[in-house]
Amino acid sequence: MRLILVGPPGAGKGTQAEFVAAHFDIPKISTGDIFRSNVSGGTELGKLAKKFMDAGDLVPDEVTNAMVRSRLGEPDAAGGFLLDGFPRNVSQAYELDSILGDLGTQLDVVVELDVDNDEVVRRLSGRRICGKCGHIWHVEFDPPSVPEICDKCGGQLYHRDDDYPETVRHRLDVYTLQTAPLTEFYRSRNQLTQLDALGPVEDVTERAIATIEAFTASPDAAAVDE
Ligand code: AP5
Ligand code: MG
Repeated sequence: MRLILVGPPGAGKGTQAEFVAAHFDIPKISTGDIFRSNVSGGTELGKLAKKFMDAGDLVPDEVTNAMVRSRLGEPDAAGGFLLDGFPRNVSQAYELDSILGDLGTQLDVVVELDVDNDEVVRRLSGRRICGKCGHIWHVEFDPPSVPEICDKCGGQLYHRDDDYPETVRHRLDVYTLQTAPLTEFYRSRNQLTQLDALGPVEDVTERAIATIEAFTASPDAAAVDE
């Protein structure tokens, strides 16, 4: 299974990626997570990416594309993968075509997570991330049993630097201008399916798995026409 999750900031891509990737037994590859671990590790890549991330802008394509090419070439991605946060514009989508072509494989499905803007703001304003295992929590919708401590591993939770209201507004603009056109790109290739991403996390996961299985069983029947 080779799939992409696409959707606005706060749609729940990272949350669903964890469960969907586990279901299909494939690695979850999140470009945002890779950048954040480079930022916290103080690498050169992290120093470069941080400037763009803090501003809510995209990291330049040549940097992101090289990082993804290298990650998709690793052995654990040979049998399939879930991409969260890549591609992020049409130029990255063409680069993904080239990477997959070089690897002799192709995409199965692109899943667009549908949520409205008010829900995105509610989700992002209460998000907390575990600094140790990366699990995503929400202070209201999915709270840990002890505030600010991860139930899964005991790690300390943190607030993402790009989750402050002004940066969130800019990230949403960047999504509309640069990322949203990807849905048309993949729809025209009959590779896009849509997912209602509202409701409890477990319900969305169940719908996501059912949608992906239906699409890959019969792409023509399940594709979205608009
Ligand atoms: P990235 O980390 O990819 O951020 P994003 O796309 O803005 O998306 P988010 O991670 O904010 O949201 P999400 O959809 O994953 O939501 P989540 O599951 O956390 O990118 C960050 C930055 O890195 C970019 O701005 C850019 O600078 C750089 N970057 C990354 N990829 C790049 C690329 N390809 N090219 C260039 N630059 C790149 O959920 C949000 C909250 O909602 C959580 O608290 C969660 O608990 C809660 N929640 C989730 N589902 C539900 C539900 N069903 N009900 C209630 N609450 C829910
Ligand atoms: Mg995410």
